[in-house]
Amino acid sequence: MDTETKKSIIIGSDHAAFQLKEKIRTFIESIGIGVQDAGTFNESSTNYVDYAQKVAGAVSRGEFSRGILLCGTGIGMSIAANRFPNVRAALCSDILSARLSRQHNNSNILILGGRLIGDVLAFELIKTWLDTPFEGGRHLDRLLSIETITKI
Ligand code: RB5
Repeated sequence: MDTETKKSIIIGSDHAAFQLKEKIRTFIESIGIGVQDAGTFNESSTNYVDYAQKVAGAVSRGEFSRGILLCGTGIGMSIAANRFPNVRAALCSDILSARLSRQHNNSNILILGGRLIGDVLAFELIKTWLDTPFEGGRHLDRLLSIETITKI
């Protein structure tokens, strides 16, 4: 894990994943990493885009090197977070995808579906995702080529 990530990561969720986000904050703190919690802070209905904006915005601006976002399925958060420059958000529900999203895609936001996965799996996904380095090389060339995509 890089030194910036070790210091602190930013997390956020909508109401649908509030319970899991709370458990994740405690888990991350228990492994010695600081957590900036961008909300939501209760189960009142919210718009996931607001939290995507807080977390993906902070990663996009370089204020945090890594973030975690959750909503019910993780799909809305994925769509919203990947609109931000420099953000590579990966929706993962299995360990291999979490690992490969780091090795091949240098993902800097992990997205989880709070209504789809349990807390033990979530913790394992996070551990894997935090501990796996980017492989660079040909994968870096491919990531850089994404930046050359022209908008229609
Ligand atoms: C909220 O009901 C739900 O739509 C949201 O959490 C998320 O799953 C959207 O993609």
